[in-house]
Amino acid sequence: MILKPMVRNNICINAHPMGCRAEVRLQTGRVKAFRDRLTNFDKNGRGTPKPTHVLVIGCSTGYGLASRLVAAFGYGADTVGFSYEKEPSSTKPGTPGWYFNHEFDALAAEAGLFARTFSDIDAFSHAAKDKAIELARERGFQYDLIIYSLASPVRTDPETGTLYRSVIKPIGRQYAGRTLDVFTGKIAEATVQPATEEEIAQTIKVMGGEDWQLWIDALDKAGVLGRDAITLAYSYLGPPFSWPIYRDGTIGQAKLHLEKTAQALNEHYQDAKGLRAFVSINKAVVTRASAVIPVIPLYISTLFKVMKERNIHEDCVDQMIRLFAERIYRKGETQIPVDTEGRIRVDDLEMGPSVQNEVSARLAMVDESNLHTLADPDGFRNDFLRAHGFEVPGVDYEQEVLSFE
Ligand SMILES: NC(=O)c1ccc[n+]([C@@H]2O[C@H](COP(=O)([O-])OP(=O)(O)OC[C@H]3O[C@@H](n4cnc5c(N)ncnc54)[C@H](O)[C@@H]3O)[C@@H](O)[C@H]2O)c1
Repeated sequence: MILKPMVRNNICINAHPMGCRAEVRLQTGRVKAFRDRLTNFDKNGRGTPKPTHVLVIGCSTGYGLASRLVAAFGYGADTVGFSYEKEPSSTKPGTPGWYFNHEFDALAAEAGLFARTFSDIDAFSHAAKDKAIELARERGFQYDLIIYSLASPVRTDPETGTLYRSVIKPIGRQYAGRTLDVFTGKIAEATVQPATEEEIAQTIKVMGGEDWQLWIDALDKAGVLGRDAITLAYSYLGPPFSWPIYRDGTIGQAKLHLEKTAQALNEHYQDAKGLRAFVSINKAVVTRASAVIPVIPLYISTLFKVMKERNIHEDCVDQMIRLFAERIYRKGETQIPVDTEGRIRVDDLEMGPSVQNEVSARLAMVDESNLHTLADPDGFRNDFLRAHGFEVPGVDYEQEVLSFE
């Protein structure tokens, strides 16, 4: 069968097995090419702090996958990853992350790195924490870097069995903004009704810090949280015009809860265990999660155009290379630079005033007739397709896909 992407409303419902594998190999190649810079040109890693046993919760796609690639192929770390992906059947491809995970494991094995990947255990469950603990005990290591990179629409509370749902909605009043279908080039007005109190609470339950804290507590209790470990959870701030739907909306409340959780973890563990917990504010990138947020595709397309023109464009891999090499593992430095709120910032290039002023000016003018001049919808579309294994350079898409494995 010849596989073509099946996309509707910025959601792609299939994936290309060979393309997904090729995409991970390309990303790995980029990380390897930066390896010298990552270890600050110190081949032995002397004087450069580095991760050795890394747990990535949400490891299969987007920022989690990029973090794992950098930890493994940049720093030579052993990695354990959790994700929730669908395996292929005889008639249907699996989800992209399923293929990304498999290729990651194959590449890690080739490189002689220990890697264990769970594609089908709910990271919110006790079972996931037990697995991570069991593995560390079996192999006699402790985790020194724990990355929390989940993006999920639902969470089952492991104690009560209650299912909670997250929503992306404004709070207090309705939100109207323009949204872009990057496949048709159509710009439409989208309105989103304000969230109820119940929806706000449920979104915090799913995307807030409760589960992050449960992970750290479980690892510590089991004795597999390393001394002086670092833990990171990812967040986004974005430009003021997106705040009603993002930062000041339901998801922003959940992200605020993550920040409070980082503080709580630091208060509880820093003195006794040396643990440092941070929220890292990353830049806007195209991932399966970000494509469905109203207004974000038009903003990201415009942002990409401006950042590419200035040669400062970054994707997930570029961001994670910078996060590791220039924030958390700096040569001769134990101090991690943070903003006044204690957050790591790698969204600095996106949020710089010059970039933001230019993006705002273009957004005020952009319509369907000048979309390709002022913005980069093709760049968005390409990143989005590549996240599903399509349009990956070097892959022959006219070749029959004989198996979805
Ligand atoms: N995409 C952006 O532009 C952007 C920007 C800044 C910060 N962030 C943040 O980065 C984090 C990751 O987002 P992303 O865009 O990389 O998302 P993504 O959709 O690419 O990745 C989400 C990961 O979570 C896993 N997952 C979801 N539910 C799970 C479950 N129940 N059990 C196990 N694994 C599960 C998925 O399998 C996948 O590995 C989020 O916190 C997001 O807010 C994203």
